[in-house]
Amino acid sequence: MTATILDGKAIAARLRAEIGAEVSTLRAAGGPQPGLATVLVGDDPASAVYVRNKHKACAEAGMHSVDIKLPASASQAELLALVAELNTRADVHGILVQLPLPAHIDAPSIIAAIAVTKDVDCLHPENVGLLAQKGRQPRFLPCTPAGVMHILQVSNTALAGANAVVLGRSNIVGMPLSLLLVSADATVTIAHSRTRDLPALCRTADVLVAAVGVPELVRADWVKPGSTVIDVGINRIADPAAKSGSRLVGDLAYAEVAERAGAITPVPGGVGPLTIAMLLQNTLHATQASQ
Ligand code: GUN
Repeated sequence: MTATILDGKAIAARLRAEIGAEVSTLRAAGGPQPGLATVLVGDDPASAVYVRNKHKACAEAGMHSVDIKLPASASQAELLALVAELNTRADVHGILVQLPLPAHIDAPSIIAAIAVTKDVDCLHPENVGLLAQKGRQPRFLPCTPAGVMHILQVSNTALAGANAVVLGRSNIVGMPLSLLLVSADATVTIAHSRTRDLPALCRTADVLVAAVGVPELVRADWVKPGSTVIDVGINRIADPAAKSGSRLVGDLAYAEVAERAGAITPVPGGVGPLTIAMLLQNTLHATQASQ
């Protein structure tokens, strides 16, 4: 079997076009231009690329964005003051503090200082709490998990009663994605570094999501034939054959898993583009809610 490739780039492009059209409609009706502020502390090259892509996507969707970069030496107090200012700015509807923050910064306090109505990352504890409670709706869906759910939806992946295994328990992906999958009536197992017999557990999955950041961890014999396998990992590995000396791989041994899965997301061009589209969607929703 050769898996259907779930083309995140194309799926995200459609979504971004829809969001762009909604922005035009909002503005034509006299509404404000949606605005996203990003805060990047330090000079991690991968984070800089992610942030640049977010600004580019904002511009393409007709949104404005505020690009704040602070040196790695920025203090906790400076960051808190900056977030407080962004909370009050009328032209900023969404705030994203790029993670990870330098070790001397207490990231949870910074995230908790973001106005819940501008928390387009859905990382504020109040929004995570709403996400976790049955019958409650968070103000925003967390971007990468919502992107995974969107891919599953447009690929008509059955979730009700399906066994879903999520590899990874991070605040940004594994935990919130597990909550969304439970809301979609999947039976969810969250696996992590202490899980026993990971390959056997993964073989029970109708839907397998890898979000651990370990290059090519998931092998073909971990995968149930015909299952849907989603790769959230973005790992740079050395590759002497590449011009740059390195290349990006996900958490799946892609070529061999694609021989066994029913559907698979590539890296790059899978989940990544959806994360940005969902961020735009959340910024649009924040703007509409501010009216
Ligand atoms: N770093 C990697 N992914 C993300 C994300 O989705 N949001 C934030 N704020 N930082 C990240």
